[in-house]
Amino acid sequence: MNVPPPRRVLLDTDPGIDDALAILLGLASPEIDLAALSVVHGNCTLVEAVTNALAIAGLAGRPDLTVAAGCDRPLLRPPVTAHDTHGTHGLGYARLPWGAAQPVAEHAVDLLIREIMAAPGEVTLVAIGPLTNVALALRKEPRLAQAVRECIFMGGAFRAEGNITPLAEFNVFADPHAAQIVLSSGIPLTIMPWDITRDVRLSQGDVDRLLARGGPIPRFIAEATRYYIEFHLREFGWAGCSINDPAALALVWWPELAQTRDIYVEVELTSELTLGKTVGDVGGKSGCAPNVRLVESFDATEFVARFLRRMEELAERLAG
Ligand code: RIB
Ligand code: CA
Repeated sequence: MNVPPPRRVLLDTDPGIDDALAILLGLASPEIDLAALSVVHGNCTLVEAVTNALAIAGLAGRPDLTVAAGCDRPLLRPPVTAHDTHGTHGLGYARLPWGAAQPVAEHAVDLLIREIMAAPGEVTLVAIGPLTNVALALRKEPRLAQAVRECIFMGGAFRAEGNITPLAEFNVFADPHAAQIVLSSGIPLTIMPWDITRDVRLSQGDVDRLLARGGPIPRFIAEATRYYIEFHLREFGWAGCSINDPAALALVWWPELAQTRDIYVEVELTSELTLGKTVGDVGGKSGCAPNVRLVESFDATEFVARFLRRMEELAERLAG
């Protein structure tokens, strides 16, 4: 069977614990070539997120991975972070050694534009944080919407209540104006919403079984998710944690796990009460053409099993 060449992927991220798991999954998956991390404000400050991105790449044996710093605040709104969810520095109880690696001098917005415009139709952009970098890249180079192969975004809450306000999901709420710019840009956009990812969970048992293998990767995952599971237990009463971002990234090479529908989506921008709510035109009442491929169901059990296998393979590979 002829194996297709790896898909070139840019990951726009606000690491963050589930972002860290997505970065590890991306580096453990031969189906993609994770070309660069463009970092954005969100779960923690931009400085913390860049430090975390560099440390996670080093942990995974990729200190060479390109990491570019992007926007440190939303386009208009005051910055919001999620230290209650992701810990003081953004990686829960995990404390990674800082290596010598530094972010590249190029701004993340310029990196996204340069990489995507250099290879029209070849690059997949996966955004798992607030969309500030992506929105500015589209404003600076509108042709990016046609040049990118596809854009996958973890965010939005449609039929489920929000995870940051009663209606809004964090990535959209953190920069709702950026989200609306992306939605109205014409970019081929797949959305993996909180409705789905809230139920894509690692259990404490999953983590314990991984930890039993020993090594730096399982130890990091155990320390990072220990904080994250404590949050989910306190906030939702769950003995596990939602791994939102790895599930979104995996759509690049495991699309068969998801069922989608094409739908028109806009973001609420005016009311303080409903700011950041993603409104899906389920009944076609707006008369507007669909602008989003929305994931409506996902085989979470199969994905978590595959994710854990990839983490075991990465741990074994690094154990030498
Ligand atoms: O709402 C969940 C999303 O917000 C995830 O990407 C998480 O990392 C935070 O960025
Ligand atoms: Ca994230």
